[in-house]
Amino acid sequence: MITRDDVLARLSELTGPDGRPLAQSAALSEVIVSGSKVYFSIAIDPSRSAEFEELRVRAEGLVRDLPGVESVIVTLTAEAPAGASGTARPQTAPERPVGPRAAAARTPAGVPGVRHIVAVASGKGGVGKSTVACNLALALARQGLKVGLLDADIYGPSVPKLLALTEKPEVIPGRRILRPLVAHGVKVMSIGFLVDEQAAMIWRGPMVMSAIQQMLREVEWGELDILVVDMPPGTGDAQLTMAQNAALAGAVIVSTPQDLALIDARRGVAMFRRVEVPILGIVENMSTFICPHCGGRSDIFGHGGARHEAGALGVPFLGEVPLTMALRESSDGGRPIVVSDPSGAETATFLDIAAQLMAALGNAPAERQPPRIVVE
Ligand SMILES: Nc1ncnc2c1ncn2[C@@H]1O[C@H](COP(=O)(O)OP(=O)(O)OP(=O)(O)O)[C@@H](O)[C@H]1O
Ligand SMILES: [Mg+2]
Repeated sequence: MITRDDVLARLSELTGPDGRPLAQSAALSEVIVSGSKVYFSIAIDPSRSAEFEELRVRAEGLVRDLPGVESVIVTLTAEAPAGASGTARPQTAPERPVGPRAAAARTPAGVPGVRHIVAVASGKGGVGKSTVACNLALALARQGLKVGLLDADIYGPSVPKLLALTEKPEVIPGRRILRPLVAHGVKVMSIGFLVDEQAAMIWRGPMVMSAIQQMLREVEWGELDILVVDMPPGTGDAQLTMAQNAALAGAVIVSTPQDLALIDARRGVAMFRRVEVPILGIVENMSTFICPHCGGRSDIFGHGGARHEAGALGVPFLGEVPLTMALRESSDGGRPIVVSDPSGAETATFLDIAAQLMAALGNAPAERQPPRIVVE
């Protein structure tokens, strides 16, 4: 039986980001040993994540070699433990330009078979990320693409409800990986399928990170043109894990039009830029309200704020999703508008956003197949 001390003894061979042996470094998180699984994280300055990727891989390798260990997940985190020295909070990291050079500097490995991983994020909660992520995934699928939807909102997964999925994913015999559920042709995975809602509420950073890692790598995604990831609100561990470990093609930021939400949207943009993830564009959600009775338009949260902000930040503006009763009802009723009203105005908006997103990713659908590695 592997113990925490066995892990620490092995980690003393490595040097932590603060120059001390990793086992004694303030940057090392709690080491969690659960049966044959080991999880821990190393706090770093996020602007130096590429530099410390090697340390992460070495730590993972050393622990994996210990007898009795079946799986190890080591993540780099920006959350410095109390008293850590030599690490910086994300806010203090310098902003980096986004461009081909920045993209080349990123090291995370992709998910085999998945061409593009796109995070749908926002700085602020409740602005409609999950609604946008779901409908965007369905709109992409309608354009003939092979699409997956990963719900990375560990503390508040809403994809099971949005798609009315209640089954549990099954483990593929002999392979110890999960088969995703399928809704309207989209492969779906959510922590909400796996654990009780209350259980995940108390998870701390390293567990959130390992759950996300497992949903990326221990799920049979197969060949996908695009994996849409519904992110939790804010700029914390989940965002950093995705940025560092998922080879994100980019992020789509969702914002409502009013100033307060835009401040958070700006923060979201800055966070992804800092970890060198390109911003593929901003979507304005809950834009003009369309009255279901008279068809009249009112700008409840204002209108055009996100378009203006996108211009100011120099990122593409992908479109405006109106605030409608039908959208609210279809989301909460488990039949997203793209499937419940396939020829409606809201669906047309999502199809347009999907097309712009594919254009931003710089490719025509299914033009280029990813390389296939066949092991016989
Ligand atoms: N354009 C819209 N029109 C009407 N209702 C909407 C619209 N977008 C989202 N909603 C509703 O607003 C609520 C919040 O949306 P959603 O859950 O998608 O937000 P979120 O940003 O993912 O929230 P969280 O930060 O909690 O994850 C839901 O009840 C949803 O149905
Ligand atoms: Mg959500």
